[in-house]
Amino acid sequence: MGNCLDSSSRVENAQNSSYPSKVTSKTSLSSVPSTLTTYSTRSTLTVPSYTERSANENLLTPRTEGEILSSSNLKDFTFNDLRNATRNFRPDSLLGEGGFGCVYKGWIDEQSLTASRPGTGMVVAVKKLKPEGYQGHKEWLTEVDYLGQLHHRNLVKLIGYCSEGDNRLLVYEFMPRGSLENHLFRRGSQPLPWAIRIKVAIGAARGLSFLHDAESQVIYRDFKASNILLDSEFNAKLSDFGLAKAGPTGDRTHVSTQVMGTHGYAAPEYIATGRLSAKADVYSFGVVLLELLSGRRAVDKTRVGLEQNLVDWAKPHLGDKRKLYRIMDTRLEGQYPKKGAHAVANLALQCIGSEAKLRPRMSEVLATLEQLQDPKNTAVTQPQTDRWQASSTIPRSPMRQYKSPRRRTPAGSPLPSYLRSPRVH
Ligand SMILES: Nc1ncnc2c1ncn2[C@@H]1O[C@H](COP(=O)(O)OP(=O)(O)OP(=O)(O)O)[C@@H](O)[C@H]1O
Ligand SMILES: [Mg+2]
Repeated sequence: MGNCLDSSSRVENAQNSSYPSKVTSKTSLSSVPSTLTTYSTRSTLTVPSYTERSANENLLTPRTEGEILSSSNLKDFTFNDLRNATRNFRPDSLLGEGGFGCVYKGWIDEQSLTASRPGTGMVVAVKKLKPEGYQGHKEWLTEVDYLGQLHHRNLVKLIGYCSEGDNRLLVYEFMPRGSLENHLFRRGSQPLPWAIRIKVAIGAARGLSFLHDAESQVIYRDFKASNILLDSEFNAKLSDFGLAKAGPTGDRTHVSTQVMGTHGYAAPEYIATGRLSAKADVYSFGVVLLELLSGRRAVDKTRVGLEQNLVDWAKPHLGDKRKLYRIMDTRLEGQYPKKGAHAVANLALQCIGSEAKLRPRMSEVLATLEQLQDPKNTAVTQPQTDRWQASSTIPRSPMRQYKSPRRRTPAGSPLPSYLRSPRVH
């Protein structure tokens, strides 16, 4: 079974992985080669509040773990609650695995939020942090802090957390269709029709726009197909706020921070300099647009040469109407509006532009995508949605086949030293 069930296989799996991996290392920025996506420790947390109560001071004042946990409206679960809710983290409850740990399906009572009998009450997803010390704990707390306060229909809802002894868990609303990554790349999955791809892109763009345009900007920093979760109607919601970071304030154009993210998705200027702006998220969004167009992963080491990196491979084809078909997902079987595909390709090209300043804002990206839903832009040769809808559920294996774990920083003492002011230029 996967690493959630047998931790001894972890290192080997990581080395053999052919797909994008999240990396964290303590490499100093000056030694980060511009061509290498090396990421380092997670940044400090200051969190804006977007609930009715105005809490801008939360953004400007770093908060202690105690303050974060006590101020949230999240349920503080006991470990026993979550053990019962997931039937003792049974292998057949496993939904997936990421760098943080394993995610299990569970059931809780809607009113009391205590564990309920499997199959009754509310379905939840329970993420269980691997015991890897400081870095994991830091991300866990960042996630509690951000998702405890950010509420939007395109952000996954965090219901609660557990912090008991060394155990760190997070409890989310259950997203029945799993991640976009599974739909695009998992063997045996039904190909997503064009209209669904656009719908997912729009939902994800709304989530990012919300973060970027908030009174106190939030940079998400981990935009990728596996962090886009889908509800039963393919509404997209962003998950995983462990890397989220407060955006620059005042006249500043960026925040300076250690580099972190995921191979293939992180913006080149951010990797090279550690200067982070919302435009780094726009770049990652462009990469996901390319994944939606091509059905190929951001990084795929099973391919040869240039084709290993989606941006390098696709870029020359994006601006040329006659060449675009060469990178389109063959699983679409030509069932997409040519005009719409060109528009998305052009948008992706702008998003992945090497000059961050020239990339569009997420609100502009969203507006462009919304126009594509206009009926005059959606005509395809033959409608294929009926055939697809009949069997749109993807087979779900309990194991993440292609996942490599993040390489984390060496385990350190948990807290509170990182709760300090962000290094903002
Ligand atoms: N709320 C949820 N509802 C349903 N399935 C979920 C939920 N959260 C996560 N999953 C499943 O668990 C998988 C692992 O998620 P996780 O966020 O731990 O890792 P990841 O995003 O794939 O990788 P990384 O840790 O590098 O970000 C997802 O791909 C998804 O299939
Ligand atoms: Mg994730």
